[in-house]
Amino acid sequence: MSPAIPAPAPALYLNQARNSPSVQECMSIYDKWAATYNDEVGDEAQNYVAPVLVAQAAIKFEKSNGAANSIILDAGCGTGLVGQALSIAQPKAIDGIDLSVPMLDIARDTGVYRDLDQADLNQPINKPDGTYDTVVCVGTFTLGHVGPNPALRELLRVTKTQGVVVATILDEIWITHGFKDEVAQMKEEGLVNSSEELIDYVKGHGDKAVLLILEKLSQV
Ligand SMILES: C[S@@+](CC[C@H](N)C(=O)[O-])C[C@H]1O[C@@H](n2cnc3c(N)ncnc32)[C@H](O)[C@@H]1O
Repeated sequence: MSPAIPAPAPALYLNQARNSPSVQECMSIYDKWAATYNDEVGDEAQNYVAPVLVAQAAIKFEKSNGAANSIILDAGCGTGLVGQALSIAQPKAIDGIDLSVPMLDIARDTGVYRDLDQADLNQPINKPDGTYDTVVCVGTFTLGHVGPNPALRELLRVTKTQGVVVATILDEIWITHGFKDEVAQMKEEGLVNSSEELIDYVKGHGDKAVLLILEKLSQV
């Protein structure tokens, strides 16, 4: 009998996902990682602070906008860490989309999502224009995952005018992969106001992300 092959450590899964040569490969890594993702990434020892920071920024924007009972899309929702962080504030309807069905299955078990669907964010999103008050996207604009086109405009398209997109973009790809230019272009077209802040993505790990807030001014 051949010896059992040990499961890769979380850093190995993350490195593999960030080096994915294709959407299919990225999906198969998350399919394998789903069962242990929360224990490894979601625990306090890992200091993965991005989900809470994005949820706090979204809730702050909603409060300043006077929004209540908002409808939210969690794009790249994974196992639901962001939905859980969002749901502590006030009643909401939260929908999630993600590439990996096993990740979506874990998100479903949290009980905080209204609808969960499989979707590839490198493609147009199968949702009508102006559906959501708030769209969040955490940890998904990163190496080997999702690029700026068409995803940023698609997230904006499904957001209501006066609504907001709050996303993290791994700092090392913010300029090199065209995110900064795409945001500048959308500003020039009068579609958004934007703010960008450098945050800890994983505390104490050296990973930084741009926390991007896009306030939608007009329909894409
Ligand atoms: C690092 S995890 C982040 C998950 C969750 N937002 C969090 O903060 O815990 C990245 C997620 O992006 C998803 N993903 C990767 N490529 C994607 C794509 N092309 N379209 C949609 N989701 C994708 C993965 O399945 C995974 O759930």
